[in-house]
Amino acid sequence: MTDYQKQAAGTPAIAATAAAGGPRLKVGVVGLGIGRMHLDGWRQHPQADVVAIADTDPQRLAQVGEQFGIAHRYPSAEAMLDAQRLDVVSICTPNKFHKELTLKALAAGCHVLCEKPMAMSAAEGREMLEAARRAERRLMINFSFRFTAQSRALKSQVDAGVFGEFYFGRSVWHRRKGMPGFGGWFGTKALAGGGPLIDLGVHRLDLALWLMGYPKPTWVMGSTYDPIARQAAEQAGKPFDVEDLAAAFIRFDNGASLVLEASWAGHIREAELMETRLFGTRAGLLQKNLNEGYTFDAEIFTEQHGAAFDMHLHPSTEAAPSAMHDFAEAILREQPHPAPAEEGLRVMEILDAIYESARSGRPVEM
Ligand SMILES: NC(=O)c1ccc[n+]([C@@H]2O[C@H](COP(=O)([O-])OP(=O)(O)OC[C@H]3O[C@@H](n4cnc5c(N)ncnc54)[C@H](O)[C@@H]3O)[C@@H](O)[C@H]2O)c1
Repeated sequence: MTDYQKQAAGTPAIAATAAAGGPRLKVGVVGLGIGRMHLDGWRQHPQADVVAIADTDPQRLAQVGEQFGIAHRYPSAEAMLDAQRLDVVSICTPNKFHKELTLKALAAGCHVLCEKPMAMSAAEGREMLEAARRAERRLMINFSFRFTAQSRALKSQVDAGVFGEFYFGRSVWHRRKGMPGFGGWFGTKALAGGGPLIDLGVHRLDLALWLMGYPKPTWVMGSTYDPIARQAAEQAGKPFDVEDLAAAFIRFDNGASLVLEASWAGHIREAELMETRLFGTRAGLLQKNLNEGYTFDAEIFTEQHGAAFDMHLHPSTEAAPSAMHDFAEAILREQPHPAPAEEGLRVMEILDAIYESARSGRPVEM
């Protein structure tokens, strides 16, 4: 038996319902902000049923329960795990609770889809990965920007060898004034682990690394700043103790390097700018958001027969399968799942190194 077959065989609901016309996955969702997107995402898979939800906010719990028609509602993840025998749990709480709740869900025999960032630090991420290995359960991180039709199409071009070797990249997510409200968990280090680097930068870092083949980082130089958000928080009389801008230079063991930038505030033209450029030996790519929104353009630049030659990837008209769909599919088909915890951990190691470099003012060897 492979590891994945062993995991599936030990999954209670799969074993119980296999005789009744195909296995089904019983899913629980914890945290109902972005967790509502998980509810939609799980519904894409015909063999996944969200049977339970949990949130510490009773109003949100009731409202989402009504909206999605879910009867089993719990005031905590622990109460949900005690009451329900689940196969998979989505963890969609503030970052501080990712580790603790993932460990509890794994201990209850569930596979886990944890929101990004994986955790508050690499140390926490490592604990989560080790617990998943010990429990022989899966742990996936919701790096959602990978799952769009266009990102998938770009990845297919990479896998087909269109770009040759990537040797340099720049991946950014900047906002002119897009700080989450002051006084909430996003601007509080003890609850979020950091600011826009861990919130937005994590997506652009994962996307670039995924396209580059997840090279191993060797050293990192980073800086963080907070002039705009700190002043605004002081004026509002609210706490704020994370950065409002971070920038880093990451060097990999294959010689490639990546510039990463993320901000919630800055004096720039765009309200929202997301851009990933990768330079390859045969071609380069640019994925960029259109009209400062959340739809993306993607282009490939190369040379053919001595002339500069560009290609354009049209946005797909069909919805792409969600991360939840792909996780369900991998569990049911006993295949490796995308965005595994190992990659989530590598992202956390790089983020830790950027924050450490920013603090010390020196490069960090990894
Ligand atoms: N993948 C993406 O594109 C994406 C987008 C937004 C947020 N996120 C991530 O999702 C997570 C949640 O972010 P959000 O924007 O939904 O935050 P949010 O504050 O809007 O929602 C969090 C919810 O979790 C509940 N909650 C808090 N602590 C809990 C606990 N211990 N147990 C159960 N419920 C608890 C809160 O009551 C709230 O309803 C964060 O890790 C964030 O980084 C990911």
